[in-house]
Amino acid sequence: MISAAARPLTGRVRVPGDKSISHRALIFGALAVGETRIHGLLESEDVINTASALQAMGAPIERDGEDWRVRGSGVGGLSEPERPLDFGNSGTGVRLMMGVIAGHEVAARLTGDASLSKRPMKRVLAPLAEMGAVTEPERSDRLPMTLRGTRDLIPIRYELPVASAQVKSAVLLAGLHAAGETTVIEPTPTRDHTERMLGHFGQPPAIDVDAEAGARTISVTGRQELVASDVVVPTDPSSAAFLAVAALIVPGSDLVIEGVLTNPTRTGLYRTLQDMGGHLSFQNERVEAGETVADLHVKASQLTGVEVSADRAPSMIDEYPVLSVAAASAHGETTMLGLHELTVKESDRLAATAAALTANGVENFVHGDTLRVVGAGGGGSGSNGAVRGGGTVTTHLDHRIAMAFLVMGLASEEPVSVDDGAPIATSFPSFRELMNGLGAEISEGDPV
Ligand code: S3P
Repeated sequence: MISAAARPLTGRVRVPGDKSISHRALIFGALAVGETRIHGLLESEDVINTASALQAMGAPIERDGEDWRVRGSGVGGLSEPERPLDFGNSGTGVRLMMGVIAGHEVAARLTGDASLSKRPMKRVLAPLAEMGAVTEPERSDRLPMTLRGTRDLIPIRYELPVASAQVKSAVLLAGLHAAGETTVIEPTPTRDHTERMLGHFGQPPAIDVDAEAGARTISVTGRQELVASDVVVPTDPSSAAFLAVAALIVPGSDLVIEGVLTNPTRTGLYRTLQDMGGHLSFQNERVEAGETVADLHVKASQLTGVEVSADRAPSMIDEYPVLSVAAASAHGETTMLGLHELTVKESDRLAATAAALTANGVENFVHGDTLRVVGAGGGGSGSNGAVRGGGTVTTHLDHRIAMAFLVMGLASEEPVSVDDGAPIATSFPSFRELMNGLGAEISEGDPV
């Protein structure tokens, strides 16, 4: 795909449903007793793979007009899948489902694409093994593998060694099946959709926050009934991020993105863009299904480089590729600290982002887990500097690398191409259509 200089992006737009919440809505629906209706489910490859895995384990899930219906048979009520469960590109799908499978007396073969097969699974399997689940081959760290669960899971108290909502959620989901109380301690808070959804399904976890250190201790009691509950999925701030950065860097843009999730565990990018001088404001804040949402108004702005501290990383972990695109046209340098987790995403996003910046003429430096981007802006002219562009970006099966650098091409001197636009369908299938509807120029074509 190729993107070229765009007209100002204007109008009102709604991006698709949140990916994290969509996976969880399907899973909680399948573990609850009764029928859950989901409105606004993200119909992307990743989420559909989670739905198929649950169906293979006996959960009736079907589309019904605009909504999806899930018939749950209660905690522990799934059956052995009759076929391998293919999670495609999705770390969230496979890791959360590992927690669910661990609590069932089943053996499930788990597979994924080339990207997912490289990603570390021990972070989830280590606590699940403590609870009683086993893998074949023994002590596996990568897909494909077989995970064997048990009806007799042991509750544990587990301190997260990495700031990961996926690991936290896998342990809490397994804990729902264990006899007794399972506790997860997270030294650094991560996205809390699992905790909120537990409450929405009638089993709010006990949460204790250490006021000084910020650590959270989260406990669930297993073998309690979850009550089916309809879910309205808010729109995904990680998808809206591409539109927001595009509107900031394409001169003359003025855009409203409706109903964006404003959960503070997800909005680090927006705070950072405001710190850079971006005109972004959240208006008309309201609550939908236990989550806050608001309309995000973004206007093209002159940006200035900032230092982004490591403690902000969990709240914007998926947004660094697109932040680096904003940083590339800002005045001055942007330094992003504490990016180690980026190296184990759909690609090594630290290396992929640095290579994509370099391919498009943007000076950047990687020191350990720090990325420094030298902005093209200069002279205080009131507008951002134009990035050279003209490069071909290698996406490494990573949707966010593809979308971030297509956004760069909308404001660069020469078009930017990405070698493979197909991964965009894992999280944001309507990306191109939606962007072009606002004034962007993204087309299918051979790399430049
Ligand atoms: C997610 C958690 C994050 C994030 C991913 C979605 C989730 O991963 O990168 O896109 O839904 O829990 P980690 O928990 O591994 O940081």
